[in-house]
Amino acid sequence: MAIQQSQIIEALSTVMDPDLGRDLVSLGMISEAAADEAGNISVTVELTTPACPMKESIKQSCIAAIRAAIPEASSIGVIMTSKVTSSCSHHGGHGEHGHHGSNGGHGGHGAPQKIELVNVKNIVAVASGKGGVGKSTVSVNLAVSLAASGAKVGLIDADLYGPSIPTLFGLQNTRPEILNQKIMPIEKFGVKLMSIGFLVDPETALIWRGPMASSAIRQLITDVDWQELDYLIFDLPPGTGDIQLTLVQNLAISGAVIVTTPQDVALADVAKAVTMLRKVDVPILGVVENMSWYELPDGTRDYIFGRQGGEKFARANALPFLGSIPISGSVREGGDAGTPFILSNPEAPASIAASRVAGEIARQISILNSTCTVD
Ligand SMILES: Nc1ncnc2c1ncn2[C@@H]1O[C@H](COP(=O)(O)OP(=O)(O)OP(=O)(O)O)[C@@H](O)[C@H]1O
Ligand SMILES: [Mg+2]
Repeated sequence: MAIQQSQIIEALSTVMDPDLGRDLVSLGMISEAAADEAGNISVTVELTTPACPMKESIKQSCIAAIRAAIPEASSIGVIMTSKVTSSCSHHGGHGEHGHHGSNGGHGGHGAPQKIELVNVKNIVAVASGKGGVGKSTVSVNLAVSLAASGAKVGLIDADLYGPSIPTLFGLQNTRPEILNQKIMPIEKFGVKLMSIGFLVDPETALIWRGPMASSAIRQLITDVDWQELDYLIFDLPPGTGDIQLTLVQNLAISGAVIVTTPQDVALADVAKAVTMLRKVDVPILGVVENMSWYELPDGTRDYIFGRQGGEKFARANALPFLGSIPISGSVREGGDAGTPFILSNPEAPASIAASRVAGEIARQISILNSTCTVD
């Protein structure tokens, strides 16, 4: 007797998405399930991000569940696809991550309307308390890694006084095109890029203060033709001053990633960043620890800046820990040469760590988006 679609669906309804805590069928993730006359079963699973770290294990669970329930199947083919989910900011706030304070206010009365880009599913801010901890390095490699997994990705360098994305992508003297009064992002390594460094000389930006600076950054978002994006990564300027506060307050940010090094001084500043983000109700996706150790030629690790400070901080503040990236010569060399190290040296421990961090971030975004109150 021919295998029925309902048998396949029933088998798949026993497979859980470990992050979302429900089965694939009730999550609506099975976009195709069929069997031909000869008993060959084909299934398509649609995940919430192409960078899902659980992709392979979910696939294996599907195969095992079908094999157990339908032993007469001659073959089982499972195709993993994805459709990135949108930030809760697109439809009425976070379920479990509810607002604090009265009338859900973001900054009280008269606060400007948050900037939202309807074609951008998720805006991810990368923040740090202290400068020089590797925010830009993490942003760049996150963007490139998500793009390599198949996502549509943009990257904004919001550091007015020290833009680094032009250098990190080897685009020092590039100027963007203007088309229909929109600035065209510059595309490299599959990522759409925009930096204040593409638009003005560093000397010009240096004399900007407060409102000038904020409105310049605003234009990087609103005046650029981003088109459709799954993730727009926002490399914030270091610190927790007015510019940072205005930015996180006025943008519909899906979530923020915090970068730190393991030292106490960096961690003290990270606490300020966490306080700032919580004050304006920006969900924190988690903490990345950079420059975690240096690997000696004999394979032992030298914890130059102390051990596991970032992880302990994350735990103490009930935040997800997104991973550690070691100190590596390839990181700086890649940066200087204009090719992100994850591409120039993909087998290096730092690259493997950075792509794992990217997967963790994508995963936390999917988890957060699954908590939206749908209206
Ligand atoms: N894991 C690492 N291993 C080796 N060098 C690193 C690592 N991470 C960052 N660096 C180097 O440290 C320097 C600072 O990194 P980066 O520019 O990413 O920091 P940042 O937090 O964006 O700084 P800023 O506050 O100035 O914006 C760069 O020269 C970078 O190449
Ligand atoms: Mg930077």
